[in-house]
Amino acid sequence: MRLREWDPAAAPAEEIAAWLELYNAVGAHDLPNDPPWVNDHLREYLVETMPGERRTCWVAQEADGRMLGFAGLLVLSDLGVLELYVRPDARGNGVGRALLAAVADRASVEHFSSLGVEAVGGTPAAAFYERYGFTHVYTEMRSILPLSHVDWKHVEEMAAGLVSGYVVQVHVGSLPEALLPAYAEAKQVRRADPVGDMDVRPIAYDADRLRASLHCLNVRGLRPYIVVAIHERTGVVAGLTELVVPAQHPTRADQYDTIIVPAHNSYGLARAIKARMLLELRDRQPQLREVQTWHATDRVQLQQVNKELGFQADREWREYEVDVDELVARLAA
Ligand SMILES: CC(C)(COP(=O)(O)OP(=O)(O)OC[C@H]1O[C@@H](n2cnc3c(N)ncnc32)[C@H](O)[C@@H]1OP(=O)(O)O)[C@@H](O)C(=O)NCCC(=O)NCCS
Repeated sequence: MRLREWDPAAAPAEEIAAWLELYNAVGAHDLPNDPPWVNDHLREYLVETMPGERRTCWVAQEADGRMLGFAGLLVLSDLGVLELYVRPDARGNGVGRALLAAVADRASVEHFSSLGVEAVGGTPAAAFYERYGFTHVYTEMRSILPLSHVDWKHVEEMAAGLVSGYVVQVHVGSLPEALLPAYAEAKQVRRADPVGDMDVRPIAYDADRLRASLHCLNVRGLRPYIVVAIHERTGVVAGLTELVVPAQHPTRADQYDTIIVPAHNSYGLARAIKARMLLELRDRQPQLREVQTWHATDRVQLQQVNKELGFQADREWREYEVDVDELVARLAA
């Protein structure tokens, strides 16, 4: 086995295809109901990051080039987020440990204090990270909505139930320049959410950051769909819901944030905009079969809306963290 740093920007197309084969072998084993990925915008997906972020990758390979494992370290200011996969038929031979050691050494050299990682419930990942001293800090639940089960008449009623005083807008790919400041202000609300969720959440939202974020999504092949509720009298963004249709798995969309600004709570806005999102997807993305979403287990209101739309809880996504010095010491022991 050979372990080396891997640069997907410069990698030949065969190596991108080998990464895909590895990723799909892992997926077929650990998440058999997830759609396999396709080779569309894969290089861009692996290479592109938000301004100020960077990703370093490693691969473990056999002599014939077959990829046994992959590790990625995404750096967001001083936080490192780890990603690690070993193909099922190569597990239990130290490949995971060797990749983790490469990431830990780099994190140590670059003086990060801690590393975070997401472990999918029902896979060997949790036991592996616990073995190396990672602690469980936060849990999100993934839910999936099979579109074939949707009661479209009910969804149409939900979307039509928008209270007066608000208008809904749908934006695909980008947001109008004039809307960016108001949208950024609504996004700020999410920063006040309970801590523990280390996912890629920037320090602050502003128009520049949003523009860059939407650009990054598009380049990575993640087509953004955004539905906003505007409060007519003030022009503020009262609620928003964001989703992407990834080129890599175009039959399953990823639902991102849904935010209702507190002053506009209790008017059923989340219900109306999420329902409207589904109607847009039905019309504009006919290949779509499912929508998946992740939410904190304590976001009760949002869970109710998801349940009404037909989302079904699937698996836990558990966040782990470790102190880099402790990790290096354990790996050396
Ligand atoms: C977790 C993972 C990286 C481990 O890789 P691996 O190559 O099998 O790990 P290693 O052989 O290097 O094992 C390292 C240590 O972890 C332990 N370990 C690994 N898998 C374990 C398991 N399922 N249960 C308990 N301990 C485990 C090993 O016993 C070993 O400990 P030791 O050093 O005391 O012997 C691998 O199973 C994997 O890729 N999982 C991906 C899961 C995932 O995220 N799937 C969804 C994404 S699509």
